[in-house]
Amino acid sequence: MSNTTEPFPRVNGVLTVGGVPVDRLAARVGGTPFFAYDRDLLSRRVAAVRAALPAEISLSYAVKANPMPAVLHHMSGEVDGFDVASAGELQKALDTTMPADRISFAGPGKTTDELVQAVAAGVTVELESAGELTRVREVGERLGIRPRVALRVNPDFSVRGSGMTLGGGAQQFGIDAEQVPAVLARLGDLDFHGFHVFAGSQNLRADSICEAQRATVDLVLKLAELVPVRYVNLGGGFGIPYSARDAALDLGPIGENLAKLVDTQLRQLDARVVIELGRYLVGEAGIYVTRVVDRKHSRGTTFLVVDGGLHHQLAASGNFGQKIRRNYPLTVATSESAVETVTVVGCLCTPLDLLGDKVELARADVGDLIAIFQAGAYGLTASPTAFLGHPSPREVLVGGTAPVSGENQCRQ
Ligand SMILES: Cc1ncc(COP(=O)(O)O)c(C=O)c1O
Repeated sequence: MSNTTEPFPRVNGVLTVGGVPVDRLAARVGGTPFFAYDRDLLSRRVAAVRAALPAEISLSYAVKANPMPAVLHHMSGEVDGFDVASAGELQKALDTTMPADRISFAGPGKTTDELVQAVAAGVTVELESAGELTRVREVGERLGIRPRVALRVNPDFSVRGSGMTLGGGAQQFGIDAEQVPAVLARLGDLDFHGFHVFAGSQNLRADSICEAQRATVDLVLKLAELVPVRYVNLGGGFGIPYSARDAALDLGPIGENLAKLVDTQLRQLDARVVIELGRYLVGEAGIYVTRVVDRKHSRGTTFLVVDGGLHHQLAASGNFGQKIRRNYPLTVATSESAVETVTVVGCLCTPLDLLGDKVELARADVGDLIAIFQAGAYGLTASPTAFLGHPSPREVLVGGTAPVSGENQCRQ
């Protein structure tokens, strides 16, 4: 991934994010480790997706990827909707300017309390089971509010190339396609809007995504013969490159495929058609910054021990469901000197806390900063922060404002 560092240019040899050198940012946020997200990169990514997809497609942001309030506030002005997965995310989404009727609540195991909050808020509850339907009806009756609902459908196909499969076969997600007619018959006076199919995530293959979208549209059109449909959520699954072996997803064929589906099939439904993306919108806009606290040699290996680790950025250690551990792209943010081979480890007392296994990096000494890329999604909130009792990292959203004044070099 030769261009990984491109969005984070160096000034006087120091990596910058949102125009701010990371050493200066470390001082500004009160120390390391921290996550930094670039506002402009978020906007640029949304713009790129919008440019590639037909204008008829609504873009929804899956809050689970990065629920930092400042990120959500920014994204609420950029995308057309939010998808949330818990009452906690719902609350954060409702704190933004995103209208409630553009917020969907998907995910298995919604408690009755969560359903109460969702129905009272007026968001779309994406029903994952017949039992959830029964409970949401009861909640609606109790509150005197007509719940706004959609059905999440577990399709009868799975998506090739997904890093994580959430559809096809037996699933805790959604209602099996063949059970949908029976569930629709029990809608009663629920305010039914449509269907949501989310079959997989982290897919770098445009052909597989196109195939899944075609199959999803066929399925939804078949179901739309049973009930009027105003909302069709085609899911997403757009992946980002996490290792040097990965090539970036090509949005071109996906946009063309969707344009064809809109023209030939979807337009007849007269429904709001949604693509729902998490990591693709935010993942590459963030870095995790951690400081070298020790440099040691052990039997031929040079270790850089940093003050962060898997308790903040689990995915970079390879323990977030990856089948094979591969190094996330990382760099010494405060040095560009001669390259050496080192192993970067976190401060946790477990061999799992491996952030860079035999990587070629500029020489780093105690005090230098290491930046791990692709940290904008599934970072802090997807990591076991309580493990071993270290402090939580800070998070900061930067860029899009006036450049910082003063020297770029920051001495600490
Ligand atoms: C229903 C739903 N929507 C959206 C997403 C976001 O996926 P990603 O961040 O890979 O785009 C997921 C991920 O699991 C999901 O289950």
